[in-house]
Amino acid sequence: MTTPPGKAGRPWLRTDLPVEQRVESLLAEMTLAEKVGQTHQSANIDPVQDRELIRLGGIGSSVLASGATAGNERDAGVRVSAIDAAQRIAVEESRLGIPLLFARDVIHGHRTVFPIPLGLAAAWDEDLVFRTAQLAAAEASRDGVAWTFAPMLDICEDPRWGRVAESLGEAPVLAGRLGAAMVRGFQGDTPAGDGTRGAGTVAACAKHFVGYGLVGGGRDYETVQVGENTLRNLHLRPFQAAVQAGCATVMAAFTDVDGVPMHAHRHLLREVLKDEWGFDGVVVGDWDGVGQLVNQGVALDLRDAAAQALVAGVDIDMVSGAYAAHLAELVETGRVPLELVDDAVRRVIRLKLRQGLFERPYVGGTAPASATGPAAEAPAPEQSDRALGPPARALAREAAAASFVLLSNNGALPLTSNPGRLLLTGPFVDEGAALLGTWSLDGRAEDVASPADAIRDRLRDNAIVDDGRFSDRTLHLVRQADITIALVGEHPSRSGEANSVANLGLPAGQVEVLRAIASLGKPLVVVVFTGRPLDLGEILDLADAVLIAWHPGVEAGPALIETLFGDRSPGGRLPMTFPRSVGHIPSSAHARPTGRPIDAADDTVRGRYLDALVSPRLPFGWGLSYTTFTYGPLRLSADQMPLSGGSIEVSVDVTNSGTRHGREVVQLYVRDVVADVTRPLLELADWVSLELDAGETATATFTVTPDQLSYYDRTMTLRIDPGDALVMVGPNASSGTSARFTLTE
Ligand code: NOJ
Repeated sequence: MTTPPGKAGRPWLRTDLPVEQRVESLLAEMTLAEKVGQTHQSANIDPVQDRELIRLGGIGSSVLASGATAGNERDAGVRVSAIDAAQRIAVEESRLGIPLLFARDVIHGHRTVFPIPLGLAAAWDEDLVFRTAQLAAAEASRDGVAWTFAPMLDICEDPRWGRVAESLGEAPVLAGRLGAAMVRGFQGDTPAGDGTRGAGTVAACAKHFVGYGLVGGGRDYETVQVGENTLRNLHLRPFQAAVQAGCATVMAAFTDVDGVPMHAHRHLLREVLKDEWGFDGVVVGDWDGVGQLVNQGVALDLRDAAAQALVAGVDIDMVSGAYAAHLAELVETGRVPLELVDDAVRRVIRLKLRQGLFERPYVGGTAPASATGPAAEAPAPEQSDRALGPPARALAREAAAASFVLLSNNGALPLTSNPGRLLLTGPFVDEGAALLGTWSLDGRAEDVASPADAIRDRLRDNAIVDDGRFSDRTLHLVRQADITIALVGEHPSRSGEANSVANLGLPAGQVEVLRAIASLGKPLVVVVFTGRPLDLGEILDLADAVLIAWHPGVEAGPALIETLFGDRSPGGRLPMTFPRSVGHIPSSAHARPTGRPIDAADDTVRGRYLDALVSPRLPFGWGLSYTTFTYGPLRLSADQMPLSGGSIEVSVDVTNSGTRHGREVVQLYVRDVVADVTRPLLELADWVSLELDAGETATATFTVTPDQLSYYDRTMTLRIDPGDALVMVGPNASSGTSARFTLTE
């Protein structure tokens, strides 16, 4: 490629040069103030108010969000004209022309809203996650967003924490693989060798590094008690998977980890993430996370906070202003080494180069005036107003349906094509925004196809649609109907950031109405919209069928009605354990052995609690379909596996023994029997999804490798032990067939 005119003195603009050479050439030109500018992220940049600062190179990026807990509020949307105007100042009026980077939380879709991440995880489908992220990136980048703060990879064991809705569940392998798929979807599947990404992509951000899923009592922002071994063997794993998938950025968690706030955690940020893992991307602080070091009582003031965070490895300060105010002086007085600031700036410039911002700074991909002559004068359009097209809606419907998990069914589902008079009742019957879920900043209530419309389309006069009040009046309608479908559960404002609960029951009043409906003795199907696992013990007893629908997104209604009538078969599986009660928390499928073990069969006789069973209400991986599956015996290709380079094929024949087509998610769990540290009794290692017609048999085959049994030992060294190991294959974490094999030296 020849050098375009005007770029000779600005080698960083030359796409024919390697990215690293471009980074260094720009860094060499920058003043300390310009370097600090790249580490400062402002909130909602304003091209008028911030003009001078942008000109001076004082802002590197901007987060487009309404505030500190933006996921709870739908804001006015992205102002594309403001983004472009600010960008024009940065590119055409600042000394070095470094483009700004615009970030926004595009968490589970942009304008097209898909199920909340916990719902997407329930589909156990990497390809689906990839496609939803890809579409979200295309839509968001059309609105000027170049960077999203997803995937959220916190391993969660406590459903009281509202942020479990944003997570990909409790298993590192599930969250890691789905997170990596999300990264590839956002950033493009085939980045060039030097990591540069094409148009229509956004940079991803693995968050919140690390341990945030362990906040005490499920209370958001609480302190975290966890040792490094558990971090390495559990919580760090999905982050490593995302980094290996090329994730461009990582966000520090608000919490401390055993007394050290993550925004000042040099060991985990610099030594583990950056040095040990070789992460060459950007670490961004969370909203005011640098400033909050003062509240956390480890920093004297903002200046001290800035010094600690930069030294620890936080490259960008999100909105606290600590870096902008103090970093230059901290370098000049020798408190912060210039090399560390240079390291941070290198990472930011690398991110911008890889994102193609120097070539495509403006919305719609227009090139800067310096390269092509004056940029188009036409004002940039405001946030896309396009109605959702059929492909977007089709994907949203596919994703919503794939996320549904059938918890119980005594034959009430699927509904027959003529179910008689059907009552659709409950608070979610005619909802819009409530079905989008937390963090759907750019979704619109009017885009949501509601359950009410979908059932009316389907049954016409046979549909009775209640008014959503879910009260005594409902009973009168139940009496007129042949079957009742009750849509209950949590409004999204009861989940997400800063929205934890102390109780896991349905919201006030819902159980009472359900009880009254059930007492009338007519068929009752309960659909639960939720952002978290709930205690559904009584509901499972009184309903004929229970379906978890999470918060499903814009195609909620049609996806639900098609599923209830059996046009689609529910194929989702729980990505988090459903505990029996709040008293059972924490509960997960990766419990480790104690010195006095009890197995499931012992639970009723000498369980861990006197007053309750300890086993989960519904185990991790649970989910029914409209058919049944039977598993044949487990086959192992060998009973010995060499530690180095060995592998064993583990296979099982699975037969659709029912009368309808269905999807089975065949799950592989492993256990290292004797290890240097306590290892999970069972840990998800892999899964295979089978789509089988009635009567059809297929073989699920897994390749088990020593890698899947590797873990960090007492010295934090990754190792694999010779000796006995277990595999279990089954439909969920609580049932399956096990076999033993030996790892040999
Ligand atoms: C705070 C949240 O913790 C984080 O997840 C989010 O990305 C940022 N705010 C930016 O909105």
